[in-house]
Amino acid sequence: MPFETKAGISASTRYCAVYGHPIQHSASPAMQNAGIDALGLDWRYLAFDVRPSELRQALAGAAAMGFVGVNLTVPHKLLAMDMMEVLDVSARTWGAVNTVRFEGRIAGGEEDWRPIGEMEAGAATEIRMAGCNTDADAIVRSLREDLGFEPRNSTILLLGAGGAGRVAALRLAVEGPEKLWLVNRTEAKAQAIAEEIVQRQPELRGRVGVGYPPGRVDLALNATSAGLKPSDPLPYDREAWAVDRAVAAYDMIYRPAMTPFLMAARDAGCRTANGLGMLLYQGAAALSWWSGRPAPAEVMRRALSEHIYGRAEHA
Ligand code: ATR
Repeated sequence: MPFETKAGISASTRYCAVYGHPIQHSASPAMQNAGIDALGLDWRYLAFDVRPSELRQALAGAAAMGFVGVNLTVPHKLLAMDMMEVLDVSARTWGAVNTVRFEGRIAGGEEDWRPIGEMEAGAATEIRMAGCNTDADAIVRSLREDLGFEPRNSTILLLGAGGAGRVAALRLAVEGPEKLWLVNRTEAKAQAIAEEIVQRQPELRGRVGVGYPPGRVDLALNATSAGLKPSDPLPYDREAWAVDRAVAAYDMIYRPAMTPFLMAARDAGCRTANGLGMLLYQGAAALSWWSGRPAPAEVMRRALSEHIYGRAEHA
């Protein structure tokens, strides 16, 4: 019988982790360990505060110690692009890596690279890092599954043109909306994203606009950081637009569960959802990429909700 601690760790336990700076508020360990347990894997998911200057060494250390994979959060996602041996099409498309998979092979053998999590511990003599991005698809999946929103042929108002807003805009554009309106406090950034979309998808010329939409929209999406603090203003200009012009509203913020934006939307009769689903689906996709198995999303959602809100589901 191997010696086991209360956490169920033994000498054969495999590890994965999230690296960020700061990291202490991360809900990923709670979510991922629940998913790992439900899959019956002898894995543990840890969290490390890694400074950007140490990212390369921290990844090399994980590779050397047989880690299965690593998630990256702020401020590592762009930096890691240059550190991967292979980039999945998702990482190349969105220009950021949020999930690293360690892959191994036996030198001199006929075998191709395989996920290290599917190999016996210590068997691989060569290890490489593959990077992918599970954030962008998680936006669309959460809009569909949590809000019942279908982006194709819809009219969307996207608020925010930072890192999160840019990826949301580019990813939603791929779904073929009827019209995508981009608004940002600093308008030039929204303009730059509109141009990037048209450069990538020339057929969308005329279907991407900068500014507030004149009529109703099917979705208003907050990708700004306004709402993280209770004292934050609404993410849109109330003189220029009113949320009762939206059918549904989504806030990428999940802590707090109800932002001023979502409260205003709910009071105006919109369907609403917060960004918990984005966190969930990016994590579920990572676990599935590492393990080669479908991730138990509902178990992971419950663990996330309990960890963040102290209860199974937010009302
Ligand atoms: P993230 O990676 O989360 O997108 P970011 O790149 O810092 O973070 O972007 C923050 C976004 O929130 C930006 O669109 C920012 O607007 P600016 O580009 O004008 O800075 C937006 N934002 C932050 N505070 C805001 C506020 N009080 N009102 C409106 N927008 C705000």
